[in-house]
Amino acid sequence: KKRVVSGVQPTGSIHLGNYLGAIKNWVLLQDNYETLFFIADLHAITLPYDAPQLSETTRNTAAIYLACGVDTSKASVFVQSHVHAHVELMWLLSSDTPTGWLNRMIQFKEKSVKAGNENVGAALLTYPVLMAADILLYQSDFVPVGDDQMQHLELTRELAEKINNLYGGRKWKKLGGKGGTLFKVPEALIQPTGARVMSLTDGLSKMSKSDPSDMSRINILDPKDVISNKIKRCKTDSPPGLEFDNPERPECNNLLSIYQLVTGKTKEDVALECQSMNWGTFKTILTDALVNHLHPIQIRYKEILSDAAYLNQILSEGAARAAELAEPTLNNIYEAKGFLRK
Ligand code: TYM
Repeated sequence: KKRVVSGVQPTGSIHLGNYLGAIKNWVLLQDNYETLFFIADLHAITLPYDAPQLSETTRNTAAIYLACGVDTSKASVFVQSHVHAHVELMWLLSSDTPTGWLNRMIQFKEKSVKAGNENVGAALLTYPVLMAADILLYQSDFVPVGDDQMQHLELTRELAEKINNLYGGRKWKKLGGKGGTLFKVPEALIQPTGARVMSLTDGLSKMSKSDPSDMSRINILDPKDVISNKIKRCKTDSPPGLEFDNPERPECNNLLSIYQLVTGKTKEDVALECQSMNWGTFKTILTDALVNHLHPIQIRYKEILSDAAYLNQILSEGAARAAELAEPTLNNIYEAKGFLRK
């Protein structure tokens, strides 16, 4: 089976962008691939964060994965920091990562401006090296993510190729290794719809955990009245009828796409259904569709969180499995980089 790896940071609340861009697609992959889904807690400390909250948000995020349909009889679910190999491999990779590559990362540039440049922690710069380690450690074939992670995936691929060339093949053999490639070069899996869910208050910026206004996003755990209020007040426009793919109507395209994804209808059906609808009517059906889709997830979420022992068990089994899969790759890279082995 081909292998799939992905994760979400346990910062802020998980929103519709995280769900439609990533988690919902994970669920579709677990039947046909060997899947590993982790909670990226080590990535969550790259910007100032609330230490007393971290363990709780980490558990909650795990519960959201399961509530959304990640099935641990098929997938391994674990906490990134529970598998030490992630941080270890990151260090080994970082010696081959040019700082120029890291300085070019759009997310780094955007986040460091927001955080006040000189004062940002070094981990914000090296964040993509940790992400590369998360992926390369498991010889992953595919990485299902939203559009905003594309650049980090490109860096991961370039780094894998660079290290394969620098240390793999004959050079590794000479050092007593088995030769061949050290890392599989992974591919991003980005869905045509849902890869970039936009803000409810501005159809040109993406829905994001860091937007100060909660009105800009639908959180997976938002209750019915909150969803209804957010949709009531979201940004719309005035042309008659509703349509996809009109660059002058980004909000319209975004809301129709959300409707399409949460109802499971085809784009053609939604286009037809909504072509002469007014905003008032559409907002009602969109709210109902969102509530119908999210309500069962919210019920399962509460159930899962109420059984702490069960969740602990899942996470400890997941970490054990992941650590086992990670070990050979970590050993190989130490060996190929010339370290004295125990
Ligand atoms: P994070 O936590 O910012 O987001 C988690 C996932 O949600 C996707 N996403 C979106 N998709 C569509 N529309 C949006 N508005 C939207 N906002 C977020 C993201 O693309 C992502 O797939 N660095 C990663 C976490 C990570 C990771 C990894 C992912 C760490 N290591 C290894 C894959 C493989 C991150 O911060 O995602």
